[in-house]
Amino acid sequence: MTDPQEAIDAEAAVRTTKRDSRIEERTAGERQDGIPFIGAGPGDPGLLTVTGKQLVEAADLVVHAGSLVNSELLEEYCADAEQVSSIGKDLEELIPLMRDAYENGRTVVRLHSGDPAIYGAALEQMDALEHEGVPTYLVPGVTSAFAASATLRTQLTLNGVSNHVAFTRPQGKTLEPEDDHIGEFVEMGDVTTCVYLGTHAVADTMDRLLADGHDPDTPVTVVYHASWPDEDIVEGTVATIGERLEAAGYRASALVIIGAAAQKTGYERSYLYGDWANRGTNESEADD
Ligand SMILES: C[S@@+](CC[C@H](N)C(=O)[O-])C[C@H]1O[C@@H](n2cnc3c(N)ncnc32)[C@H](O)[C@@H]1O
Repeated sequence: MTDPQEAIDAEAAVRTTKRDSRIEERTAGERQDGIPFIGAGPGDPGLLTVTGKQLVEAADLVVHAGSLVNSELLEEYCADAEQVSSIGKDLEELIPLMRDAYENGRTVVRLHSGDPAIYGAALEQMDALEHEGVPTYLVPGVTSAFAASATLRTQLTLNGVSNHVAFTRPQGKTLEPEDDHIGEFVEMGDVTTCVYLGTHAVADTMDRLLADGHDPDTPVTVVYHASWPDEDIVEGTVATIGERLEAAGYRASALVIIGAAAQKTGYERSYLYGDWANRGTNESEADD
């Protein structure tokens, strides 16, 4: 097997001169040959897409993202398949596992939590497999920020409150302090900042925001295990959420939402169901 990093570099190099022809030939959602990288959604088996479910049901080998993929989903949809958690496995182990199964005629699916496009590390696996001659494709899923907004019965964009959404993560092993932009998003005022991979670091993140002079009363809402049976919500502010979260005892598997959209107050009715609806023309573009 080619060294995974070399394979990734080689596949990326090809893309600098030539666009993948499948981009024009295929639509997202279309079944293709090869190994599908499927978004399992946030946890509730009902939040897997119809296509994702059909593919999982037909699989002989399901490689999944461990504890963030609800075992209920695996039991319901692929109890008879071989199930392998990717936790603790590097590319050197994962790629031959999937390649060999595929080449031996088995139906292989790769299940990522939420949507593979958000902190999923899917592309490196896809590139390494493609380099080995195994085709791959993506089947999108519901990212946890969307499940968390449904939990809170709100919108991440809310007229008059939040015009933008940032999907981000705090500094740590992967991100250098200078690449942590949470403070900048909060500073903008009309951004709903969705912090992934930051449950364990909420107190530190809030301390940095306070040290940088951000409003201590800025709302912060933490949604633990959105869509799971033990889903929970911890509410607070930049000043209080660290302590409240520590008291609740959650150190992982939560989405941290900074901004007023979670509170659903102070928003304005939208133009879409006001003046725009009444203007009597048939323009095709509108907010939806
Ligand atoms: C490696 S990232 C994967 C994100 C995933 N690809 C997605 O689209 O949701 C894992 C992080 O996603 C968030 N997460 C995943 N599932 C969640 C859930 N059901 N509820 C809240 N947060 C979740 C947590 O912040 C967790 O640390």
